[in-house]
Amino acid sequence: MTLQEKIIKLKKEKKAVILAHYYQNQDIQDIADYVGDSLGLSQQAVKTDADIIVFAGVHFMAETAKILNPNKIVVLPDLNAGCSLADSCPSDTFESFTKSHPNHTVITYINCSAEVKALTDIVCTSSNALKIVNSIPKNKPIIFAPDRNLGRYIMSQTGREMLLWDGSCVVHEAFSIEKLIELHKKYPNYLIIAHPESEAHILKIATYIGSTAGMINYVKKNQDKGFIVATEAGILHKMNQEVPNAELIPAPAKEDNTCACSECAFMKVNTLEKLYKCLRDENPQIHVSEEVIKKALVPIQRMLKLSAQND
Ligand code: 13P
Ligand code: SF4
Repeated sequence: MTLQEKIIKLKKEKKAVILAHYYQNQDIQDIADYVGDSLGLSQQAVKTDADIIVFAGVHFMAETAKILNPNKIVVLPDLNAGCSLADSCPSDTFESFTKSHPNHTVITYINCSAEVKALTDIVCTSSNALKIVNSIPKNKPIIFAPDRNLGRYIMSQTGREMLLWDGSCVVHEAFSIEKLIELHKKYPNYLIIAHPESEAHILKIATYIGSTAGMINYVKKNQDKGFIVATEAGILHKMNQEVPNAELIPAPAKEDNTCACSECAFMKVNTLEKLYKCLRDENPQIHVSEEVIKKALVPIQRMLKLSAQND
């Protein structure tokens, strides 16, 4: 049996579901039951009736699935699949920060630990951050953490001041504005599309800014165009599947590398082999304390409720 066949067989026997992010390796995306962005993955985690959730993504995503499903087994192929944004915001320092600004509404980007979510009023993702911020009364000051680039972008869209945590994504900060401008000169008809975790100078020259799912939809809606894609390169797989003739160029990174694209080393520690083993052994599992689950569930559910509402 191939590895893929073994995974499909085990998945049925164990009543498991595989949820994968767009930044995962192609073979993982191809075997997943659902591939999506952070919001879509959380919504799927709520819907599933599986006994085991195999989360092919990074730790904070699997943790969110566990918070939403405390009685299910949630496994992650490799526990080293972290996130620079989540790492930038230790819960003890964040707690002191929130305590020193007691009248503020605390909004955290989903890319943070369960402990940080437990200190939060409402969680957001890149696809609903604007809506979440706009839902807070205008007279209420806001703390936004941990991504300063997403925070600044939302400030520019809402005209609202927010206290920003100084975190960033190593992948999106790696894009070179000089190389991007040079590339765009060579392909002037291509549209630059960017994830809001990118730096402000990249976002300034982008035609479309949105979450990974938003970027894929934008390519689908504009099939006659070519695109320079400023986000993690794993997304090109789904874009190519959805629009087979799409002309796509990954945005160039500051460091020279052979494919001129940016890959998230955290996302890429997951492999199909590790996915098979974690399903077979039901290990490594995600564990979150009851106390943290109770507190962190509230801001996640607020986000899901608000996201489900029509504008
Ligand atoms: P979204 O897929 O929600 O846009 O998030 C991107 C990301 O960086 C996930 O870590
Ligand atoms: Fe974290 Fe950036 Fe990797 Fe997403 S791409 S998991 S934000 S380090």
